[in-house]
Amino acid sequence: MSMPIAFYICLTLILSIFYGIDGYFYHRLVQCRYSSKDLHGIEFIDSYYFNQAEYVRFNSTVGKYVGYTEYGVKNAEAWNRDYLAQELGELERVCKPSADIDYSAVLDKTVEPHVRLSSVTPPSGRHPAMLMCSAYDFYPKPIRVTWLRDGHEVKSDVTSTEELANGDWYYQIHSHLEYTPKSGEKISCMVEHISLTEPMMYHWDPSLPEAERNKIAIGASGLVLGTILALAGLIYYKKKSSGVL
Ligand SMILES: *[C@@H]1O[C@H](CO)[C@@H](O)[C@H](O)[C@H]1NC(C)=O
Repeated sequence: MSMPIAFYICLTLILSIFYGIDGYFYHRLVQCRYSSKDLHGIEFIDSYYFNQAEYVRFNSTVGKYVGYTEYGVKNAEAWNRDYLAQELGELERVCKPSADIDYSAVLDKTVEPHVRLSSVTPPSGRHPAMLMCSAYDFYPKPIRVTWLRDGHEVKSDVTSTEELANGDWYYQIHSHLEYTPKSGEKISCMVEHISLTEPMMYHWDPSLPEAERNKIAIGASGLVLGTILALAGLIYYKKKSSGVL
């Protein structure tokens, strides 16, 4: 399994100026973008935003500032005159020397997804049933979630979210399969991720929905615990009444 991996490390400078309830929001995002350990394709990106819209960007591959608004274009002209040499040097000064640290601290790490397969209510559509395969808390972002019906990949009636950032470096994704159950068939969700040495398969067990199984498990545990306590009480009572204790 090979997956394209693109990472970036960001340093964000945020400055916001508030006027009453509504505010104006300015921020600058400085990134070293790594796409491989040998530093091939490394990029330095320096972006300026006003109210979330990027108005000027320096891209080391382009080699100059480019403006996206009238104000951005004006700034780009001035900065290309005054700061270009300095900005061109940032790749060598900042990104390349920090690559080792960034790779060992973050980029080389991989964390396996926790996967849950569940039955969910389908949208009123062509099929009466829907399964959801959710992968949680994995890193890095690239992942592949596919559905198999009796060992064959299913492409139709499958929808998936993007890889959603938790905001804590980890990601989650949810893939849905709408289907019409057939007796005896085997439905599986397959997850491929760089943290896994081989694709992981999760087989759908249609016998009982998980919530029902949980209720039965809780009920059974309660019954066992109750029986033990009742027996213990009974033995205690018997011994006490027969004068042993
Ligand atoms: C930087 O510019 C190069 C060349 O145009 C482009 O391929 C790359 O996607 C740009 N990077 C970013 C982050 O915009």
